[in-house]
Amino acid sequence: MDTRRLASLRAVVRRTLPIVDFICSGNCSELTVRIRVARNASSNVCLRSEIYRVVGFLGDRTLLGSVEWRNSRSPPLLRSNEIHVWRSHLAVDAFSQSLLHSYLNEEENERAARFRFDCDRTRFMTARGTLRALLAQYLCRHPGDLQFVFGSEGKPALAPDSAGEAVGFNLTHSQDMAVFAFGRDRNIGVDVERTRSDVDCEIIARHYFSAREMRSLARLPRHRRVEGFFLCWTRKEAYIKACGGGLQIPLDSFDVNMEPGVPAHFLGGVDPSWRINSFRAGSDYPVALVYDGRPPVDFQFYTLNRNSGWLL
Ligand SMILES: CC(C)(COP(=O)(O)OP(=O)(O)OC[C@H]1O[C@@H](n2cnc3c(N)ncnc32)[C@H](O)[C@@H]1OP(=O)(O)O)[C@@H](O)C(=O)NCCC(=O)NCCS
Repeated sequence: MDTRRLASLRAVVRRTLPIVDFICSGNCSELTVRIRVARNASSNVCLRSEIYRVVGFLGDRTLLGSVEWRNSRSPPLLRSNEIHVWRSHLAVDAFSQSLLHSYLNEEENERAARFRFDCDRTRFMTARGTLRALLAQYLCRHPGDLQFVFGSEGKPALAPDSAGEAVGFNLTHSQDMAVFAFGRDRNIGVDVERTRSDVDCEIIARHYFSAREMRSLARLPRHRRVEGFFLCWTRKEAYIKACGGGLQIPLDSFDVNMEPGVPAHFLGGVDPSWRINSFRAGSDYPVALVYDGRPPVDFQFYTLNRNSGWLL
């Protein structure tokens, strides 16, 4: 295991857990990390001595299974080696809602008017307004002044005159949970889905998963299949979204893994420049993030805090 990779892994784990010991074993393709964790972040005494197998490490792809979502008290700087991920609830108070909705342009309002259900309309408007508010912070612009352009399959990007220093982004929502990802000079795709047990995952998987993924799903213990299904689904969607694709990318042309607790990785069919991570925005909300560009990448995770005053 090369020491630079090990140091970056250690840094990621240390940000996530109050670690007392960090013991590594493994080889260059997979690393098992056993750590001893203190009971609380301020303690440097190991009060709990269980050994955890927390993080897998495949090449330079790090699993961020458990992430620390922080509140940001001031607008963060987006450095070129960083990806910022924000999670936000779309059910907001009336004041925030009307402010966020006021950022939308005519085209976005027309799209909103076409939604059949009020809840879908409101979620779209709040997500789009939040996207504008976050981008405006990174670009030091007014949210309402930003212009978007759309790829052939509908992927939004900043119009050249809005972009300043090219900020790549993507967003996703499921029910009232929205997740936004930002990075400089990168293609990014993000997908969140609420894990639901009322879906017949094996029937749906037959339509969307590759043969290899179907075999992986069948190998999972029955009680892990719903979880595995949503891990696979979000990973496939995030890759398609990173490419700016849609239905024209055959879903069986690439494979992802889906075993709960195993680091997200591609099993085949994608260019090696793509990287993938998986984490949770809430206990029932698995998220997958796919991106390209220069490694190493430092991830920052933020929960949108509307009380912090700088966003709205
Ligand atoms: C376009 C598509 C990728 C959107 O995914 P989704 O799960 O329905 O919706 P999400 O909430 O994750 O993302 C929606 C946001 O992604 C962005 N987006 C839209 N089209 C996009 C595209 N082609 N690529 C990347 N991002 C896109 C938009 O910002 C959109 O937000 P908006 O609706 O508020 O404008 C999806 O509908 C699609 O075409 N999938 C094809 C592949 C497929 O069938 N997968 C099945 C599961 S394996």
